[in-house]
Amino acid sequence: MLRTFDQPWRPAYEWIAGIAWFAVIPVYLMIAPESSGIFMKLLVCFFALGAAIYRVKQAWMIWELKLGLFNQAPTFIPSSKLREFIKRNNKMVWLGTGFDWEQKHTQRLYDLRRINLKSFIPPMWFAKIVGKLSNIDVKPEVIGSAWIRGLETKKIDIKSNIDVFEGHTVIFGAPGAGKTRALEIIACQAIARGSVVLQFDPKGDNALAQTLEREAKANGVPFVYFHLAFPQKSCRFDALKNFNRVTEFASRTSAVIGSETNDSFSAYSWLIPDAICAGMVMVKEKPSLQKILRYIQVGVGDLLERVLEVFFEEHNKDWDVMAKRYVQQKMKNPSARATQEERLAGYVEYYKQDYVRNNIESADVSNLIEIVQNDKQWVGKMLAGLIPVLRMLTAGELGPLLSPDYDDKDDQRPIWDFQKVIASGAVVYIGLDALSDTTICNAVGSLLMAELVSVAGSRYNFGMDSDRKIEILVDESSNIVNQSFIQVLNKGRGANYICWLFAQTLQDFAVKLGSMPAAKMLLGNCNNLIALRTKDAETQKYIVEEFGQTLVQSVGTNIAVGDSEDMISFGDGRLGKSMSEKLEDKIPQDLIGRLPNFNYIGNIAGGRLVQGKMPILRTGE
Ligand SMILES: Nc1ncnc2c1ncn2[C@@H]1O[C@H](COP(=O)(O)OP(=O)(O)OP(=O)(O)O)[C@@H](O)[C@H]1O
Ligand SMILES: [Mg+2]
Repeated sequence: MLRTFDQPWRPAYEWIAGIAWFAVIPVYLMIAPESSGIFMKLLVCFFALGAAIYRVKQAWMIWELKLGLFNQAPTFIPSSKLREFIKRNNKMVWLGTGFDWEQKHTQRLYDLRRINLKSFIPPMWFAKIVGKLSNIDVKPEVIGSAWIRGLETKKIDIKSNIDVFEGHTVIFGAPGAGKTRALEIIACQAIARGSVVLQFDPKGDNALAQTLEREAKANGVPFVYFHLAFPQKSCRFDALKNFNRVTEFASRTSAVIGSETNDSFSAYSWLIPDAICAGMVMVKEKPSLQKILRYIQVGVGDLLERVLEVFFEEHNKDWDVMAKRYVQQKMKNPSARATQEERLAGYVEYYKQDYVRNNIESADVSNLIEIVQNDKQWVGKMLAGLIPVLRMLTAGELGPLLSPDYDDKDDQRPIWDFQKVIASGAVVYIGLDALSDTTICNAVGSLLMAELVSVAGSRYNFGMDSDRKIEILVDESSNIVNQSFIQVLNKGRGANYICWLFAQTLQDFAVKLGSMPAAKMLLGNCNNLIALRTKDAETQKYIVEEFGQTLVQSVGTNIAVGDSEDMISFGDGRLGKSMSEKLEDKIPQDLIGRLPNFNYIGNIAGGRLVQGKMPILRTGE
């Protein structure tokens, strides 16, 4: 297939042609013979003028293209403008301005790398004319880093339908590359769209929280501020409010220790809280982290007694007469009142003899009995990983924050949970304070993600308001990835969850999940990839592979000189040019590491490759 070879990185020779064509007009008028009538003269002049304009336009475009290479300054957008955009295009997501990446851009990029850019800078007067001077930063040391943006002069709005983002999006960026500012642009639109916005912020960016609050106010929706480092300012969040099956509680509490192995310790970290939660549900007691910890620490005897009473009541209305007999058998002093221990022993005996023997058994009851019959030290040993984390989550100011007491009249802080948030279309900011305590950040992140999985399940099972999207934005997401998070990505689509994950490197995910394949599997759940400047080679490689390859042409020159046979004179000389094509990465790996702030390359919905630049959001305008 024949292709034209476009080489804009050269002096703009078109200027010469353009000026020459202009010059043709007066020269022709001077030398044209009298006999050539006015019509002929006009025809030639118009032709020359047309050709001149055509050439000057070409030259102008080449200079403009080159000027774009140095355009570095950040741009700003008032949030009101974004809100208006969403009002007009409710189903759209806008990701700044840029261009669709085509083969010709890869070609230009590879050509550009072969030459010395400085020798092609257009004159500054030109920069002034095109009104870009204020934005141009022609420093030799930064030349090259802004290439990418200048590869196309015709910039368009990068926008796509929201449905495309339902496949989730991962955004990579080195520190300072513009992740959090990009997040603000996305969040602002999500709020304007009427989506429920759940912002997880492990690092705690104060400006981000303020932006979200202002945007929520501008759109008339509630703003929920939850921050582990500022419990007094924070609202309370019930992290064990929603559940479909009792077993989910235990999965949640054991998830906080982050152990995915199958050793007996982690198995008991699940089994024991599971038995406790099941018992609590049987006696209609609302499970909370504090109560679970209390039962683990002081023992479940009291709970078991109440559970057995409920069980007996269900099976035999006159159970107390029978039970009394068994209790009496266990009493050391039958004339005194039975102690709790004796009563419990009697109940257990009654349960075993009259029910288990007759194949009437409840797994929930039997599990609790097993815990009671094992000694407390053994339970403590089995829960060695869980107890300290539960203690941290329930101690001090964190306790009421995560396990709110609905009856506490002195605590005026509002209580929220995800169902309530979704029903009211609120914007939630969750500050996890990872910098001061990673363990707590992980644990709370896990708890809340698990709660989201549960809410997804009930939305799935019991129907939902299908138009309302729930956009989950996770800054520094590698801090809180875990099994629940993976489930949110896997299953969230059906519940209208749209996740936006922001991260620095692929390696961060690998460290957190235990291996690189696990990290890649997690990202395999994301249909869209956006790469801001990324320094880590492994991440760059992953990104470049996602972008794919294309054919790049290169022109080679060969000169051949042949001697004549008599050796007295030179014979023939040949100058040849050849064009070859080679398969190259659409975006060279090292360029991902040199993108200027706020510039990105994006692979949207597994095919559309774009280069874009995000502006900085100006709120309150
Ligand atoms: N209002 C502003 N005007 C100009 N530059 C800004 C403004 N706000 C932020 N920046 C710059 O934008 C860059 C990106 O900031 P941002 O907070 O988005 O980085 P980030 O990728 O989230 O980094 P980190 O990983 O450290 O959180 C920073 O270099 C910052 O100095
Ligand atoms: Mg940030």
